[in-house]
Amino acid sequence: MTTEARKVPRAPGGRGPLSHLGFSGLYRGAEPVLARLRSAGPLVRIRKALYLVNDPDLMRTVLTDTTGRFAHWSAAAELNDVFGHGLVALGPDAYRQRRARMLPAFTSSPAKDAGPMIYRIVSDFAASLPEDRPVDVAAAMTRLTAKLITHCLLRAPVADDVLDLAARWEPAVSQVIICRLLMPSWALNLPTPQRRRFRRALAARAEVALRTLEAHRPPDDGEDVLSLLGNTSCPTARRGAVSREALLAEISTLVFGGLEGTVATLAWACHELASHPDIEEAVLHEADALAAAGGLRPGHVWADVLPATGRFIQEVERVHPPTALMRDVRRPTVLGGFHLPEGARLCMPLREVHHDPGLITDPGLFDPDRWLPENVEASACRAVTPFGLPPRRCIAAPLATVLVPVAIAAMAAQRRFRPAHPGRAPRTGLRVIAHPVRLMMFPQPLPTTRAVLAGAGDHPTQQVNGTLR
Ligand code: HEM
Repeated sequence: MTTEARKVPRAPGGRGPLSHLGFSGLYRGAEPVLARLRSAGPLVRIRKALYLVNDPDLMRTVLTDTTGRFAHWSAAAELNDVFGHGLVALGPDAYRQRRARMLPAFTSSPAKDAGPMIYRIVSDFAASLPEDRPVDVAAAMTRLTAKLITHCLLRAPVADDVLDLAARWEPAVSQVIICRLLMPSWALNLPTPQRRRFRRALAARAEVALRTLEAHRPPDDGEDVLSLLGNTSCPTARRGAVSREALLAEISTLVFGGLEGTVATLAWACHELASHPDIEEAVLHEADALAAAGGLRPGHVWADVLPATGRFIQEVERVHPPTALMRDVRRPTVLGGFHLPEGARLCMPLREVHHDPGLITDPGLFDPDRWLPENVEASACRAVTPFGLPPRRCIAAPLATVLVPVAIAAMAAQRRFRPAHPGRAPRTGLRVIAHPVRLMMFPQPLPTTRAVLAGAGDHPTQQVNGTLR
């Protein structure tokens, strides 16, 4: 027996030309809108051609689809000038080949061995932070992450001005991407200052990619991403090089993807550490012990020396994942008994799933211990997917899983972030992955005696508590 597919109901409220995503959406981000519409139904229409998939099983069906019914958002025509010839915008066959070619750079020795290099770079960064004034945490993390991606992943030790340029172009590009994906086309044609900023950002991005390619110094094994793609100017280059245009596009894609996900996680981690003193103590304890042992060294398995930090980051990723993932419907299709027309854009509110009380116990509680092996729930493991799901799961997840906890440990050994405006909840803007906007914090230096005390074998944080608080 076949049942007729139903028409997707319209989400309640939200009249007017921009519907639910009016100008407050641009200012405050999409999270409040998606939270408000969470119980509107399994699948609802926000606006012409923009749909919200609330049901976690339907979301999973879309994200794990391999039949070609749904296209990745980055392949949308309105983002041609952003992703061009890069991995994320390729057609299905070319995408599979390119991804398979790049993947070893994230899963084999260079990524696994990146820990000590990450630790050293972050330690230098922490030492360079001002002692007497607050910093914009997301801005500081953007510059740090640009260095980590270019040096550790792309193996291109670029100069500081390139990092500054990368930190400047990325936010402008992120805002434009999300506006183009969520706003109706007529709204995008309005002459706004954002459009001029975007053109300048694309020029800056091209320069960053070019100078990164010029600075490429491949490791001996040639397992880094640019060598794998066949950067012909490097001795370890593989045969079948991709075009120079594609190489530059991949650099831009990786710098963008790396900055979006990593900066958000690092910035939220600083905020959550300051908000939870008991959790901070556990993280500081591990950071001190590692610093006393001389930092992360080759052969160290980060998860063995930083288990509490790892659980803390898992919880940061649960609480602050990408707000939503998007897909476009390639051909008329039926999803959960509803008819979806070709061209429909699907928005899947990942953050809402991570906070769903039906899937996660006490979702409002920030509790890293929920990730202890004895506490972890099968439903949470299934629902919490900060890196997305295959086949489009974050290609850099194995690297990010090392990078973020190691960076937090290196930072925590020297600095403790304290809010410049205690009690003021950080707000998020409209970005591909929502960052805390203008989160100002003091990177307070820690007494240099901490690491020495950690080496003495006592609990360092207890001994120096008096001087820290
Ligand atoms: C904690 C940090 C990170 C988080 C939470 C994160 C999250 C994500 C998510 C959710 C996706 C899937 C998007 C979708 O299905 O629509 C994704 C894809 C991607 N990410 Fe990440 N990411 C992080 C770090 C990185 C880093 C460090 C890089 C590169 C240096 C990177 C590069 C990419 C790329 C290139 C893709 C597209 C993969 C594809 O479509 O095959 N990400 N990321």
